This record gives sequence, C-alpha cells and structure tokens, in this order.
Amino acid sequence: MENKLTVKLIGTGKYVPKALITNADLEKMVDTTDEWIVTHTGIKTRHKVEGETTADLAYQAALNAIQKAKFDLELIDAIIVATITPDFASPSMAAVVQARLGLNHRDITCFDINAACTGFVYALQVGAALLNSPKYRHILIIGAETLTKIMDYTDRNTCILFGDGAGALLIGRGQAHQTVSFYTASEGDMEDVLSVKEVLRMQGRRVFKFAINAIEKSINRLLELDGSRLDMVTKIIPHQANYRIIEGVAELKKLPLNKFFLNLEHYGNTSAASIPIALDEYVESSPLLPGSKLMLVGFGAGLTWGGALINL
Ligand code: UT7
Repeated sequence: MENKLTVKLIGTGKYVPKALITNADLEKMVDTTDEWIVTHTGIKTRHKVEGETTADLAYQAALNAIQKAKFDLELIDAIIVATITPDFASPSMAAVVQARLGLNHRDITCFDINAACTGFVYALQVGAALLNSPKYRHILIIGAETLTKIMDYTDRNTCILFGDGAGALLIGRGQAHQTVSFYTASEGDMEDVLSVKEVLRMQGRRVFKFAINAIEKSINRLLELDGSRLDMVTKIIPHQANYRIIEGVAELKKLPLNKFFLNLEHYGNTSAASIPIALDEYVESSPLLPGSKLMLVGFGAGLTWGGALINL
C-alpha cells in the first residue's frame, strides 16, 4: 500500500516502566558479557514492567502526549494501538485506553494492529487514511509493548535485546503542504525467522541482513513516492533494534550516523513502541520546524517493513 496523505502532528508522548535490566543483570542470567552486548548491539539497559500491563503503558504514554500538547481529549475520534503483547486477545488495548481516558461516552473507533516492530508505521498509515475520510479529525496512535513477558531468559540470542515501553502520537488533518508519504510491505512466509508463539524466537543473523535491506528499500521507496531527495530529509527515526544495523544502512547510503536518531542504548528493542518513543525524544530535543521532513522506518516479524516520510 503506497500513498501520500494530509496529516498534522499534534503531539507526542512516551512512558517507560521504572525498573531496569542492565547488561550486568543479564550476565547473571545467561552466558554473555556487557562487552559482547555493547559491541554487538549498542544496548546498555532496557526497562521492565513490574506489575504494570501493556494497557497501563499505553494509557500513560497517551496521557503524556495529551498533556504536553494541552490537547482536549474529547476531540479524539479514534484510538489505534500497535502491539504484539496485548494483555489479552479481547477487548483491544485501544478500547481499554479509551475507558481509562474517560471517553466511553464518545463514539470512538478503537482497535489494535499487529505488525510487530513495523506496527507503529502501519498504525500511522491507517490513522492517516482515516483522517482523510469524513468522520475523523483527530486520532491517537500508540505503540505499546511488554516484551519482557515473552522473553526466554535462557536464550542469549534474544533476551539481551528487548525491553518494555510505550510511545504515543496525536495526529489531525493537515494543511495542503503537511503531507505524509507511506510505504508498507510484508512477506508472510518467514515465520521461522522471527515469531512469537509461547515466547519470542528469532534467527538473529537472518533478521539482521533482512533489516538492512528493508531499511534501505524503505528509504528509497519513500523518497521516490514523496518526490524528495535524501539530503532534504532532516532526520531518519528508525526502529531501534541494533546500532550495527543502522551503521550498515548509513554505510550503504553514504550517510553520517547522526542522520539517524538513536536511543536504543537506553531502551533496547521495544518493538512497536520504539519509533514513537524515539519520535517523542527527538521532538523534545529538536522543535518540529515547518518545511522540515522526518522519516520513520520500521521492520520486524511478518516479515513486515516500511516507513513514513512526514512533511512538516
Ligand atoms: O525488531 C526486529 C527484531 N530483531 C532484530 O533486529 C535483531 C537482528 N539481529 C541482531 O541484532 C543480531 O544478529 C544479534 C544481536 C541477535 C546477534 O548478533 P550477531 O553479531 O549477528 O551474532 P551471531 O548471531 O552471528 O552470533 C555470533 C556468535 C555466536 O557464537 P558462535 O556460534 O560464533 O560460537 C553466538 O552464539 O555470538 C554468540 N552469541 C552471543 N555471545 C555472547 C549470540 N548471542 C550472544 C550473547 N552473548 N548474548
């Protein structure tokens, strides 16, 4: 699915649980070292829920976005949560967030999306498409995960990578120049490479290679669809999985590393939450200037991949 839609970014927010898993903690659980983890991934800490649920994280991130934007939450027309770790199959995390926000009295469309680590990009694309239909004016999009609940803490290939957290984004109808180009894709027969059944299982090397190709392809397609050049893009905010994946893309595209916003050192891979958490931190550090362009790029289980090029 590829298109260009009119969208305005209203506000961003995030929430991570307090407890941390450090590399030193992991050294006590599996045969690994801080040095191996840092040199192979760039990750130093991840956050971990203690009693909190995915819906709790999603709600707190949403509240943070609403409060920072001083947004009247009564104006929200739809809530979309991207997650692969919902607290239960039904009701959706989005419906739970609606109730927690005190919005039961409003006719709001609420549903979840599962596209793994590309989930937030998919959710943003669906939210933007809704905005371009008559009823919807303001949409709350959330990526929220409690991945520590699906980790096998005896598997050093996976348990060092993932953490918990949530990020949120409020969008509304934009002016003519405020467009977003989307590119999303999937290859559905790669279950053996990356899946979550009881726990998360992954063939790390295969995902690593796929990730570099997926990001490169997404960047190229987005520029093509948007009619833009890479030097016109202010910042690329990728899914935060592994520092070396981004180094690989930077090398391929001949880009300096600071073209990418990275915070995975502190959070590890938070799947659908990683892009909105990074977006919120980017926005906190750099005001969104009209005329600038932000590129979001995701990849993950499915396999799925894709991105959004946001013209502010
Ligand atoms: O959101 C998308 C989901 N996932 C990803 O993006 C993950 C993508 N993949 C990766 O990030 C990397 O492939 C990993 C971090 C998972 C692994 O790094 P790698 O450099 O690709 O290592 P590898 O799998 O090729 O393994 C190299 C060696 C192996 O030992 P031998 O067979 O050479 O003796 C592994 O057993 O490193 C070993 N190894 C470890 N050693 C210490 C694997 N995990 C660890 C560990 N500590 N935690």
